[in-house]
Amino acid sequence: MTQDTSSILIVDDEKEMRQLLQDILEEDHYRVVGASDGQEALAHMESEKFPVVVTDLRMKGLDGLGLLEQVIQKHPESNLIMMTAFGTVESAVEAMKQGAFDYLTKPVKADELLVTVQKALREALLRQEVQQLRQQVSREYAFDQILGKSKPMREIFDLIRRVADSQTNILITGESGTGKELVAKALHFNSQRKSKPFVPVNCAAIPELLLESELFGHVRGAFTDAKSDKHGLFEEAHDGTLFLDEISEMPMMLQAKLLRAVQEREIRRVGSTKSTSVNVRLVVATNVTLAEEVKAKRFREDLYYRLNVIEIRLPPLRERKEDIPLLTHGLLQKSLTAQQKHIDGIADSALARLIDYQWPGNVRELENILERAATLTQGPIISLEDLPPNIQNIQGEGQFIEDAVEQILPLGQVEKAYIRRVLEKLGGNKYQTAHVLGIDRKTLYRKLAEMEDGTSKE
Ligand SMILES: Nc1ncnc2c1ncn2[C@@H]1O[C@H](COP(=O)(O)OP(=O)(O)OP(=O)(O)O)[C@@H](O)[C@H]1O
Ligand SMILES: [Mg+2]
Repeated sequence: MTQDTSSILIVDDEKEMRQLLQDILEEDHYRVVGASDGQEALAHMESEKFPVVVTDLRMKGLDGLGLLEQVIQKHPESNLIMMTAFGTVESAVEAMKQGAFDYLTKPVKADELLVTVQKALREALLRQEVQQLRQQVSREYAFDQILGKSKPMREIFDLIRRVADSQTNILITGESGTGKELVAKALHFNSQRKSKPFVPVNCAAIPELLLESELFGHVRGAFTDAKSDKHGLFEEAHDGTLFLDEISEMPMMLQAKLLRAVQEREIRRVGSTKSTSVNVRLVVATNVTLAEEVKAKRFREDLYYRLNVIEIRLPPLRERKEDIPLLTHGLLQKSLTAQQKHIDGIADSALARLIDYQWPGNVRELENILERAATLTQGPIISLEDLPPNIQNIQGEGQFIEDAVEQILPLGQVEKAYIRRVLEKLGGNKYQTAHVLGIDRKTLYRKLAEMEDGTSKE
């Protein structure tokens, strides 16, 4: 505890009393500031933080209870200790009810004062620390609704922060359920366009023939069903963000029209000869590799380069397993809130299985499984039995550790076997293996080389 954070404010209208308390506390190396009534105390609190305030109850001007009320409102991080005259227990009780940290009866004994102040100080500092940690956690482990603490996710948070406000088009790639739409929203809501529309369009969900008029609008009589003029989603997203999901599903003919809209920043409604200029930030997403679509001539190369100015690549969940506990707790909480249910959490054995599983459906699959478990569970916590059979029965690292313990293998041997197994599981991909194991590639190569040396000597 530094002297700086341990300033104590003493409030009493009797000068001798104030001096006495000040001497006792200064003797114990606290920094002390005195005030002669509530008003003066509040003025001090405006310019300096006091984790602990010791105040007399009865004072001229703003009295102890009045000060307490103000402190709770304006400086909730401070703990207030109320001094009451001997024989007035009721007022002490009243102060406690109103939120005082503790009370002391006059005449105040030195040791009592020191113990109480120390307790109040420790509690205030602890609370301050918890609050700072909490802020830090929400800054580092989440971005808007996106949870993640793994290195790739933290890099994505940084990237979102950096590019949200630029006008460039953004391509978001990643397997199904990795959070592409969440990222698109985060981009929009962290940009200056946030008060303007965010318009999501799933290119795969709209029939090919309708997509053009959905995106660009049409004029009356453009086709049989066009009974009146209609603006398209581009115009709806004016000044905002247009999110084109599953962009690879857009027909070639429309890709040409999209390219024109992107390049010239204007669109033409179906059946119209007039162009309308639009100011739209384009964010597109895909779960296929667009470069391969380009090679296969299913996606226009020029459009690909226009869209792929900045790529945000969301790694599959199995490549960032350290996010699973955080996601599990966060998503479980979300589901419980929605179901208005209370559960204490998840058993370690169940969480271990979730960490072990390969998650082909990524975060969406995890979310669904937790929702199902939260609905089904009858216990105070989610247990192994509440998970679907395919996840309950996988024999993964958990079993592997059990076996190792059974044979009491030396650590080095377990490490070797583990590295070999992970490498096998990831199809021999050393880059991914190093990544999943949380070591750099050089270290992995060194360990693999050692293993080969070891086996040749054995
Ligand atoms: N990092 C994350 N933190 C919290 N929730 C997440 C995260 N990633 C995904 N989710 C949740 O998982 C679900 C799927 O996410 P989203 O719809 O963004 O995925 P997607 O990549 O667009 O999938 P698809 O390709 O299938 O459309 C959503 O309910 C989303 O809220
Ligand atoms: Mg999506």
